[in-house]
Amino acid sequence: MPKLDQSLKRAKERRSFHSVEALEDLFPLTIDHDLELKLLERTQAPKLFKLVDSNRAHLRPWLPFVDDYRSVSAANQFIRRNRENHAGKTRLLMGIWLGESLAGVVTYDYIDWDNRAALIGFWLGKSFEGRGIMTRTCSALVDLAFDELGLNRVEISCAYENTRCRMVPERLGFKHEGVSRQRERIYDHFVDTVRYSMLASEWKKSDRLTLRP
Ligand SMILES: CC(C)(COP(=O)(O)OP(=O)(O)OC[C@H]1O[C@@H](n2cnc3c(N)ncnc32)[C@H](O)[C@@H]1OP(=O)(O)O)[C@@H](O)C(=O)NCCC(=O)NCCS
Repeated sequence: MPKLDQSLKRAKERRSFHSVEALEDLFPLTIDHDLELKLLERTQAPKLFKLVDSNRAHLRPWLPFVDDYRSVSAANQFIRRNRENHAGKTRLLMGIWLGESLAGVVTYDYIDWDNRAALIGFWLGKSFEGRGIMTRTCSALVDLAFDELGLNRVEISCAYENTRCRMVPERLGFKHEGVSRQRERIYDHFVDTVRYSMLASEWKKSDRLTLRP
């Protein structure tokens, strides 16, 4: 094949997931026997609203959007706004399903195609904690980022004092990069955040993959 054709082919391969539409083909994503990831659809807004509404006290200390969920229609808008391409970045909102139950939400807050990096955000309903759901979900999203999307770096950011959140990247062997002072505003106050990262080269060598059955 002539050189130009080859590089065009490579470029095409590289860009093949650069639209929300192309990414949609990857879902639903089976994580293991009991867990599935699906892009959140507007029809699921009532379930999403119910999950947030019944977990306000659990989520509010760490998540700045909880008070904005005032109705099903607010959840609907949230779903619509969280599935978009903007300025070379893609944002995706996925529901974590345990059978028929919506257990929580995980996001690629952004996939930054130029720098081949993604930031993962997440939360679970209180009754779904303690079963490894988020660790397994993040492990699957790291696999997806490196194996399918061709990314090089995955980041997770947690409030400094949010121990349960920090345990998720730490269990998966992410590197602690540092603390950003007063990086996030939670309603009426600022919190320090800790940035964790995993590189494709590290993940390949990691035995953390064995966490997943
Ligand atoms: C952050 C949050 C998702 C962490 O939930 P979690 O249940 O602690 O995390 P996991 O789902 O990975 O579960 C880990 C627990 O399951 C256990 N577990 C069971 N099977 C497991 C498996 N296969 N793999 C890993 N852990 C497993 C772990 O030992 C751990 O137990 P522990 O709670 O006794 O330490 C949750 O606390 C939350 O949503 N909090 C409120 C919102 C929030 O803080 N979001 C993050 C903002 S950045």
